[in-house]
Amino acid sequence: MHEACVIMQHVPVYFPERYLPPEQGHNATTILSQLTLYIITAMFFNVFYGGSGVIRDQARPSFSYIICVYGDIAMLKNKNIVLGITGGIAAYKAAELTRELVKRGATVKVIMTQNATRFITPLTLQTLSGNPVYTDMFTLSGDWDIHHISLAQSADIVVVAPATYNTIGKIASGIADDLLSTTMAATKAPVLICPAMNSNMYDNPILRSNIDKLSALGYLFMDAGSGELACKAEGAGRLPNPIDIVEEVETILTQKDLKGHRILITAGPTRESFDPVRYISNHSSGKMGYALALMARRRGADVTLISGPVSLPVPVGARFVGVSSASEMRDAVMEHIEGATVIIKAAAVADYRPSTPADSKLKKGAGRLDISLEKTPDIISEVSKKKGNRILVGFAMETEDLIKNARAKMKAKGMDLIVANELGLPGSGFQHDTNIVKIIDPSGNVEELPLMDKRDVADRILDRVLEISDAGKG
Ligand code: PMT
Repeated sequence: MHEACVIMQHVPVYFPERYLPPEQGHNATTILSQLTLYIITAMFFNVFYGGSGVIRDQARPSFSYIICVYGDIAMLKNKNIVLGITGGIAAYKAAELTRELVKRGATVKVIMTQNATRFITPLTLQTLSGNPVYTDMFTLSGDWDIHHISLAQSADIVVVAPATYNTIGKIASGIADDLLSTTMAATKAPVLICPAMNSNMYDNPILRSNIDKLSALGYLFMDAGSGELACKAEGAGRLPNPIDIVEEVETILTQKDLKGHRILITAGPTRESFDPVRYISNHSSGKMGYALALMARRRGADVTLISGPVSLPVPVGARFVGVSSASEMRDAVMEHIEGATVIIKAAAVADYRPSTPADSKLKKGAGRLDISLEKTPDIISEVSKKKGNRILVGFAMETEDLIKNARAKMKAKGMDLIVANELGLPGSGFQHDTNIVKIIDPSGNVEELPLMDKRDVADRILDRVLEISDAGKG
């Protein structure tokens, strides 16, 4: 990775924060303006590439591409989500949850209990979801629909957020006395319950036994967060962050085809210090490796993520090991290799490090400063010697002869697949949310992927891993 090295000052290491920075504008105006932007963009491409033929097919961006250019992809497209909102102060957060679900392409139908309507208006949820909001069992509707049955049957998932002590108690006791509890009784879809309440209520043994009972029956729960509560008490009882609820929904709705696999993934750059203040590094943001960890988790794999210093949130449920230098990454990989069935090396590891790092800050002199470099451990070569039946996937980043050099690396290091990165194309390589790669196998086949969100690239790599794994079983 020495081709892309940059020298930097040591700055505070931003090991993964749980949340990305909040976005501006969580309101209907923003959604309308995003929608308008999308429609204008779609019209633009229709006008310019609207004819038939090759140019149109290659040039017109897909819906998910347009969404990803504006920061998101339609992961929940075609999914029907029934969102139940019950009467607690955290009900206002359901507005953001609705917005995030809709942003990802989901159809969201909201059911509010009567108490929930005291905390947030149905009009807010109707505007954000773009669908009628249901608040009452017995409201006449023009379409002859029996709402609790049609909502229950159409749902791919029912999410209750926030779920109060009272609602959880009702569901656990089989009480169905309003539209939400009746819909929950009638659905065969997975139900995700996100409790939010005062910490003493959250600790109450009656609630605990209700959660245990419902969990045993297959209902899914998210743990409440801790911190200062609306009642000023400190403790557990906060509604999980809406982004984490969305992630949980996406995980639940993803087929668990990697269940049973234990996947070790490396990500991010390494830093090689030449004094306590400065180091050699590269431009890797970790996005490709973290996308692999995220998608592998969603698909049911047990994931260990070994990462150099980056500022990305650790995918929920992944085991995380933070490292800094190539030699720390090597030690972490060797420590965790034993149980792994798949190893994916997406990290941009420095090939060279200063031979004799100084103990104190190097003073600026009058002339030039020469630093002698030595090789870092070649982690993938070492892994290759211990490979056994494990599936080994490497990455290659080249500025010339990409395929030829990638093939040579794959052969020399005994990989089952190599993912060759296009450098220099817009939207590809370091830092971007998107990538353009070629997946090469030892038989010489080259699968060329177009510009895609890194999460979609990750999915395609994992599909290939699964194929190799299935072929090995046969
Ligand atoms: O992190 P992002 O900003 O999202 O960018 C993603 C990425 C471009 C960093 C990623 O997609 C990528 O290409 N990672 C590998 C880059 C690289 O180091 O390529 P390489 O050709 O120098 O190394 C080949 C393989 O050997 C890699 O799998 C690397 O992890 C591994 N290696 C390299 C050196 C070393 N000392 N030990 C290793 O194991």
